[in-house]
Amino acid sequence: MKPISRRTAVTLGGLGLAGTVVGGAGLLWTAQPGRTPFGDTVARSAFGAKSGEPLRQPTELKSRDGVLEVTLDAAPGQVRIGGRNAATLGYNGGLPGPTLRVRAGDRVAVTLHNGLADPTNLHTHGLHVSPEGKSDNPFVMIEPGDSFDYEFRLPADHPPGLYWYHPHHHGVVAAQVFGGLYGAIVVEDPLPIPVTRERVLVVSDLTLNAEGSLARATVAERMHGREGELVLVNGQLNPAVDIRSGERERWRIVNACVSRYLRLRLDGQELRLLGLDSGRFGKPKKVDEVLLAPGNRADLLVTATEGVAALRAVPYDRGDDGMMGGSGGSSPSEVTLATVTVADAGSGGNANALAPIPRQATPPDLRGATVTARREFVFEMGMGGMMGGGGMGFTINGREFDGARVDTTVQGGSVEEWTLTNASRMDHPLHLHVWPMQVIERAGRAVDSVLWQDVINVPARSVVLVRIAFTGFTGKTVYHCHILDHEDNGMMGVIDVRPAG
Ligand code: C2O
Ligand code: CU
Ligand code: CU
Repeated sequence: MKPISRRTAVTLGGLGLAGTVVGGAGLLWTAQPGRTPFGDTVARSAFGAKSGEPLRQPTELKSRDGVLEVTLDAAPGQVRIGGRNAATLGYNGGLPGPTLRVRAGDRVAVTLHNGLADPTNLHTHGLHVSPEGKSDNPFVMIEPGDSFDYEFRLPADHPPGLYWYHPHHHGVVAAQVFGGLYGAIVVEDPLPIPVTRERVLVVSDLTLNAEGSLARATVAERMHGREGELVLVNGQLNPAVDIRSGERERWRIVNACVSRYLRLRLDGQELRLLGLDSGRFGKPKKVDEVLLAPGNRADLLVTATEGVAALRAVPYDRGDDGMMGGSGGSSPSEVTLATVTVADAGSGGNANALAPIPRQATPPDLRGATVTARREFVFEMGMGGMMGGGGMGFTINGREFDGARVDTTVQGGSVEEWTLTNASRMDHPLHLHVWPMQVIERAGRAVDSVLWQDVINVPARSVVLVRIAFTGFTGKTVYHCHILDHEDNGMMGVIDVRPAG
């Protein structure tokens, strides 16, 4: 490391003397000292407050006549982030990968090529499809250089909404998602939602080192769950969104961050939530903010009022791991994700001209259902080595993940009630593949609306009660903490849903 020069110290402003500088390709990469033993990382402040680029949309691949056939190439590549070159990972060279737009009843064929240095595979998060064979099978392993042909068949009554895809090879999930491997899946509405325009916002975070390549996570970061220095929307830093007053937009937002919770606000604008994950409210709900744990999605209607508004992720305390003197460092500061400028459209604003939002199909309600089985899942974090296995001690019911073991056997077609008990000092967002969960009770209080999610946050030292209808498919799959570092460290179990009879 060269000592910082006076001139760069001035350039860096807010970073002050803490930074060091490496020149490369005419770019200044500023670094925060002492952050990781693997090299310095680039602070967000080094990118300036504003990028101002208009928000892009990922490439869209749409099904036709009931079929979508795509090739996804998972590989390292170069992208531009905030006007700088960054060496990341991506599907088909993009970060995020292409948006797959499909319909209920479609057949989706994906050829995944592994151009990475480690094994990988593909998970269609939230889709209600078979977990077996070449469908959404988390046990598939694709070696570097190999390809695999997936085929996903969406049932004719598949719920419309926003889903996403990402790798799921145990042990490297956090690193591959952090590196840039994710993309959105839209299952189109049978009845279109009348809006002026629709946008997909894939929110992710990553950390780059001084050379512009991906920073490796420290042990502490893997314990706590890594959070990137840079928070991106569709791969962009603080992009600009231009709207005219009176317009109604539909924002489909994915939290693709490995560990970061997104408590989203867009003050001064009217926000109505159409749904979360695959769940839809009968009528859109007025909200001031939306909390998305890693893996969650929001389907949000924004009706624009003249002015400038920041889409912000405000601080959320997800607890600490009791290590490192309790310094959690979880989502500690506020981040501006995008800057929204609403120009006065005079009387030209069209929200009044838009048809009202049609009533959405009433979601099923399992509160009155007959429960076949009740189970408890206890989430714990211990010190590394204490479990005797040399792992980090991220367990569900005292056990770390073992792909060769079945932890939970369920009868197909049954309704179960699960008590999710978090015995640790950090939040854990529980995710179950294939079957969404209805939230029944949180911290002993009944939930008074019908709320379906496929990632459910279980706050530190708290209990959440959910019900699940194991219908439609049978087979083996997983449930896990969607802080992907926790999943990689063992907080995952195998569930086998057996045919009835
Ligand atoms: Cu989004 Cu099993 O994960
Ligand atoms: Cu999933
Ligand atoms: Cu966790």
